[in-house]
Amino acid sequence: METLFFEKEHTMADIKTFGVIGAGQMGNGIAQVAAAAGLDVIMNDIKSEFVEKGLAVIDKNLTRSVDKGKLGADEKDAILGRIKGSTELKDMAAADMVVEAATEDEGLKFQIFKDLDAACAGHVILATNTSSIPIGRIAAQTSRPEKVIGMHFMNPVPVMRLVEVIRGIATSDETFEITWALSEKFGKTPAQANDFPGFIANRILLPMINEAVYCLYHSVGSREDIDTVMKLGMNHPMGPLALADLIGLDTCLAIMETLYNGFKDSKYRPCPLLYKYVEAGWLGRKTGRGFYEF
Ligand code: CAA
Repeated sequence: METLFFEKEHTMADIKTFGVIGAGQMGNGIAQVAAAAGLDVIMNDIKSEFVEKGLAVIDKNLTRSVDKGKLGADEKDAILGRIKGSTELKDMAAADMVVEAATEDEGLKFQIFKDLDAACAGHVILATNTSSIPIGRIAAQTSRPEKVIGMHFMNPVPVMRLVEVIRGIATSDETFEITWALSEKFGKTPAQANDFPGFIANRILLPMINEAVYCLYHSVGSREDIDTVMKLGMNHPMGPLALADLIGLDTCLAIMETLYNGFKDSKYRPCPLLYKYVEAGWLGRKTGRGFYEF
């Protein structure tokens, strides 16, 4: 006798436990906004000290909100209480959806998606916070490419209102709709992008930052003058070199290389000075030195 199986339709309401891979500057911010939206969160990283550090950053951010009278002390405790730390990827078996926010390294992300595909139930959406790696390439590492999507948060995550939702070539409408609705539940405004190098945000932002690095390289201006021009002349909240330090110079370089290799167009060539800073380990705020000292 033939049996027909109909897969249950899933909606955003089915997502109660949210997994986050990576407890770094993006991962802990995503975990914070997910927990603040009422979800249970599992925040995973490879070492317990990274998880502890991520939890401490969340605690600090929430404490600042309590001190400003924007959040009740009991609400802060409730948000923190919803976040569980993890150092085992297999803990993601308990998650209804996972977003990966690991380092911007293709090989690392591929392995994480292979492992998530093995650990998570078949209906679970696997999102990536990649700033530039093609969603289709990540999706191809899994047996569920229709459930893989880009969910690209901006830094600092608790403050920035955008989530860029990126559809891969195989992403299903259901996956897209759940991710879109979840971004709204997190208090963000989503914007849709398709899967081309740098998507929308970084295709526009990073060439500007790279050009600012060229201005410094060619001694057109000092770091302060370059940033002042963009801050006061264009009303940007911070100058491009200060913003590069916030994003991380390694991430900036990885995105420029993705644009350069993806389009094979010399207009995206990364500035040699950006390579020099990254080679020296001057990666910005996270290492205490970038274009500025911290
Ligand atoms: N984490 C959490 N909250 C933070 C924060 C952080 N790291 N930094 C600042 N905030 C909060 C502050 O507590 C403050 O909150 P309240 O409004 O509740 O008081 C608010 O943000 C404003 O902060 P400040 O008054 O200290 O400073 P500011 O007004 O200069 O704002 C800023 C700081 C929000 C970072 C602002 O300078 C800004 O918007 N900069 C541009 C950021 C940007 O472009 N981000 C996108 C980067 S690109 C990216 O992320 C994508 C990628 O793939 C590379």
